Amino acid sequence: MAVVLTARDLTRHYEVSRGLFKGHALVRALNGVSFELEAGKTLAVVGESGCGKSTLARALTLIEEPSSGSLKIAGQEVAGADKAQRKQLRKDVQMVFQSPYASLNPRQKVGDQLGEPLLINTNLSAAERREKVQAMMKQVGLRPEHYQRYPHMFSGGQRQRIALARAMMLQPKVLVADEPTSALDVSIQAQVLNLFMDLQQEFNTAYVFISHNLAVVQHVADDVMVMYLGRPVEVGPKEDIYARPLHPYTQALLSATPTIHPDPNKPKIKIVGELPNPLNPPPGCAFHKRCPYATERCSSEEPLLRPLDNRQVACHYAEQFVA
Ligand SMILES: Nc1ncnc2c1ncn2[C@@H]1O[C@H](COP(=O)(O)OP(=O)(O)O)[C@@H](O)[C@H]1O
Ligand code: SF4
Ligand SMILES: [Mg+2]
Repeated sequence: MAVVLTARDLTRHYEVSRGLFKGHALVRALNGVSFELEAGKTLAVVGESGCGKSTLARALTLIEEPSSGSLKIAGQEVAGADKAQRKQLRKDVQMVFQSPYASLNPRQKVGDQLGEPLLINTNLSAAERREKVQAMMKQVGLRPEHYQRYPHMFSGGQRQRIALARAMMLQPKVLVADEPTSALDVSIQAQVLNLFMDLQQEFNTAYVFISHNLAVVQHVADDVMVMYLGRPVEVGPKEDIYARPLHPYTQALLSATPTIHPDPNKPKIKIVGELPNPLNPPPGCAFHKRCPYATERCSSEEPLLRPLDNRQVACHYAEQFVA
């Protein structure tokens, strides 16, 4: 299968002021993320708020430059791409945000918004554009009369359908969705998730699907990347990670998700305390202050991501959890 997205050691640091006369400090929001993604597959990125998911999304969609590392989209290296190549890259990777208002213009009719990417990027006639827009509207479950309406005239779920339709108009190679259903009623989430899956099948798009909710991710993911304080701590096929989570942080996230019971015989782990301050990350394993299995070694020696049991995991003691 064709690899359409490759990230190698991506980092993004933000310089922030410590306060008057105290100089600057670095927030390591994204601290070394690597993965490959094939056409038609979904990588789900999970972790609690503040772990760097949206920073990763902005780097993957060229909204922000990474501080270091490399990114390849549809075979094209992003760093050093010339103007024409960047224009193509911006077509190849699209984004859906948590709030559809981040993707949609409240003052423009839905039909015109969906036609805009075609107007800018193709030579299609007005009639041809209209035809394509109407076909896409039908595909996402909107009616022809919705063409003339404004975003505020729709429900949250419908607006997210419109945002997804707009992102898909140019048939991107990669779609990055940052918590696309988190703001929706639980009763509508499943419909919108199904729509994501239908469109992926239709267009063979690769998805990076970001969520803090492991129950949501279970429906859509092929592979899962669990992040903690800007770094992946466990990456691998969904089936293996859900059946046998090897990182204590993954175990804690899964046991905090009421609808998922990885192994009823294993003790439940509670996540205690807060995510450490990324301005002042703890030495050793970033999770050690919250980990029930932490030892001396964990507070001084940083565990590196390493292959184990059909995945990558960054914990000194992951072997003990392999069934
Ligand atoms: N523009 C910015 N300037 C400074 N710090 C930032 C900026 N954007 C994000 N951060 C910090 O980076 C960390 C990761 O944030 P984010 O990527 O939004 O996480 P998530 O999406 O997982 O909640 C947080 O500590 C956040 O405060
Ligand atoms: S390295 Fe230590 S602190 Fe970190 S997850 Fe593993 S056991 Fe817990
Ligand atoms: Mg976020």
